[in-house]
Amino acid sequence: MKNYVFGAVSAVALMSANVVVAEPKAEVLHWWTSGGEARSVAVLQQEFADNGGTWTDMPVAGGGGDAAMSALRARVLAGNAPTAVQLKGPAIQEWYEEGVLADISAVAEAEGWADVLPASIAGHMQCEGSWCAAPVNVHRVDWIWANADVLEANGIAMPTTWDEFNAAAEKLQGAGIIPLAHGGQAWQDATVFEAVALGILGADGFRKAFVELDEATLTSDAMKSVFDQMRTLRGFVDPNFPGRDWNLATAMVMNGEAAFQIMGDWAKGEFLAAGKAPGEDFLCASVPGEGFLYNVDSFAMFDVDGEDNQAGQALLAKLIVGQSFQKVFNLNKGSIPARVDVALDEFDSCAHLSAEDMAASSEGGSLLPSYAHGMALRGAQSGAITDVVTSHFNSDMSSDEAVQQLATAIANSL
Ligand code: BGC
Repeated sequence: MKNYVFGAVSAVALMSANVVVAEPKAEVLHWWTSGGEARSVAVLQQEFADNGGTWTDMPVAGGGGDAAMSALRARVLAGNAPTAVQLKGPAIQEWYEEGVLADISAVAEAEGWADVLPASIAGHMQCEGSWCAAPVNVHRVDWIWANADVLEANGIAMPTTWDEFNAAAEKLQGAGIIPLAHGGQAWQDATVFEAVALGILGADGFRKAFVELDEATLTSDAMKSVFDQMRTLRGFVDPNFPGRDWNLATAMVMNGEAAFQIMGDWAKGEFLAAGKAPGEDFLCASVPGEGFLYNVDSFAMFDVDGEDNQAGQALLAKLIVGQSFQKVFNLNKGSIPARVDVALDEFDSCAHLSAEDMAASSEGGSLLPSYAHGMALRGAQSGAITDVVTSHFNSDMSSDEAVQQLATAIANSL
């Protein structure tokens, strides 16, 4: 673990009579490569440059970040970790336990992070009491997106129950429209699955299943209903779904080829990047049921040599949690700020709904970490669940068989 002092000194290359402060540098590994994502990360690159930093970009394409995480492991094993890495949830603690993360507590304390971040978010950013990651945003996962014109032309309102969703989908199918835009990649199957699970299991059931890994809940009749609904949804996707990237699925909703997409609000970043307006061109609604599945993007700094790299890490950490970055970045990204003191007046109706629902679920005990986006479980357990979800979705496996496989996979992963 490396400790560096940053404090109130700006990381811009400062030169005084006898002190030369290193010029901040950072090689940044991330998976923000879609249109909306690239626009968002450009905000950070610009702020870093404006503050004297030199950014080396290491984008690794692949929604959900699986490919980026493989690239990270290879770099760390080769003894050549990037300076800053998009990393989140329990994976932060897993890397901390490997002894390869830098301690950014000096920045966190100088910037008063503890006063501006909700405890639920701050907890993910701390490792044994020190700060080991900087949060960027709060993405909500449990959303349904829709093409407004397609729904209107077919006399369909945004569904509020899964039965309504299924009825609307059948009607759309009859009219020759693809009901559900989906990309058959394991993480996208998992994203849809957890949104369905939240609606059907309820917040307590979701927590028992995907946070506590309670076997009775994993094999319950309610969980069988979740797999039943997944089977129904499988009938609403087009034949070309395997392997499709999530942003191409969003584009299908945008251009009216498909009606709905079940995806986190990074999809909103795509709509916005294409100049589409919420409430006019596209609609957003939380999936049927209570609760809020959060997915907080964050950056961890890896233990690297060189004062310039360390100055880069300190500068990045400071900017990431800074008020101005949190506003502009999240306006582009589709998420809401992680900080509680960023005014939301420039944000759209979907962001307002997200912020209101997040506050209400936090109050009511239904604010839950996304398992599919690495917020709830360690990699071995979330991977075990996703393997079952995706093999069920891509075969004729029964729901009975799926819940049995789920219980076995979890038991073997512990
Ligand atoms: C990340 C988002 C990203 C999405 C698609 C999620 O896991 O949290 O920031 O846009 O994956 O790549």
